[in-house]
Amino acid sequence: MGIEVGARRVREEAAAAVAAAGDVATLEQVRLRFLGRKGEVTGLLRAVGALAADERPAAGQLANELRAEIESLLTSRAAALDAVAGTARPRAAGLDVTLDGRVPRLGARHPITAALEEIERIFMHMGFESVEGPEVELERYNFELLNVPADHPARDMQDTFYITDDVLLRTHTSPMQVRYMREHAPRLPVRIIVPGRVFRCDDDATHTPMFHQVEGLVVDRGITLGDLKGTLLTFARAIFSERAQVRLRPSYFPFTEPSAEVDVSCTVCGGTGCHTCKGTGWLEILGAGMVHPRVLENGGYDPEEVTGFAFGMGADRIALLKYGVDDLRLFFANDLRLLRQLRAH
Ligand code: DAH
Repeated sequence: MGIEVGARRVREEAAAAVAAAGDVATLEQVRLRFLGRKGEVTGLLRAVGALAADERPAAGQLANELRAEIESLLTSRAAALDAVAGTARPRAAGLDVTLDGRVPRLGARHPITAALEEIERIFMHMGFESVEGPEVELERYNFELLNVPADHPARDMQDTFYITDDVLLRTHTSPMQVRYMREHAPRLPVRIIVPGRVFRCDDDATHTPMFHQVEGLVVDRGITLGDLKGTLLTFARAIFSERAQVRLRPSYFPFTEPSAEVDVSCTVCGGTGCHTCKGTGWLEILGAGMVHPRVLENGGYDPEEVTGFAFGMGADRIALLKYGVDDLRLFFANDLRLLRQLRAH
């Protein structure tokens, strides 16, 4: 059957010619050579007409398959040439090449993530190690071992999300104080921060059921309240302004003695008094104090030998102040307009 031999030759020649075509014009010539009105495949099809009637169907099918095969070779070669040389064939009408391109939208870190990372960076520069602790915590670590008495109001179901009688969602990052000390005692110094999520049954403009804290703990021989204040002043100047001041007001926490609430000079007015600081010139940013001897003991350190300071700050509040946002819930609403607006900072 002559037509089979002819078809094989045409197939081989077409494949070679398509592969060798280096541009769209040459490819078009190849198309004409094989599929054009006077092309080789067309010639084969004509030859089919001259065959005996019972041979025609098979030969016709062969020639048609060959045509389809060559068409598909041509199509993929054209696409490859397009991609390589950018020699796009004319596009749909209506393309205005003078229009601006579309700028892809880039993502950005969430303002709270950015604040947490900045806090971490500042403390790491002061020699702190950043460690994380479990969000689902044993009641013992969240309260008892931190010297929080059984009748303390913070333990109330109203404030704490209990999972079972003795398992809860941590209400603060402080439990990591004892966890870390137990793992590392008697090694000195201890110098850590603990960034992370904490949970309380709370929901209004300044409280959300989940928020972020950064705990700090330093234990060594001869640590004093002066070290605490110097560390926090250095932090405040790094994160807010060179001119920032801090002040310690006496307070009470079960896990520190003495305890203090720490204010920073108002980040908006600088201390003269404004709406943000309610005219006082000061903003409260954290709780702190000298680690209670019982907490040191629970961590495996001898309070006769070492002392320590600790602090716990609300990272969300610091982000609010940095970004000039006044409703904490906005941070968690995931409204892209707000997130885009804050990205510039
Ligand atoms: N854990 C306290 C809270 O959640 C904050 C705190 C106060 C942490 C004093 C401390 C500290 O480490 O010394 O309100």
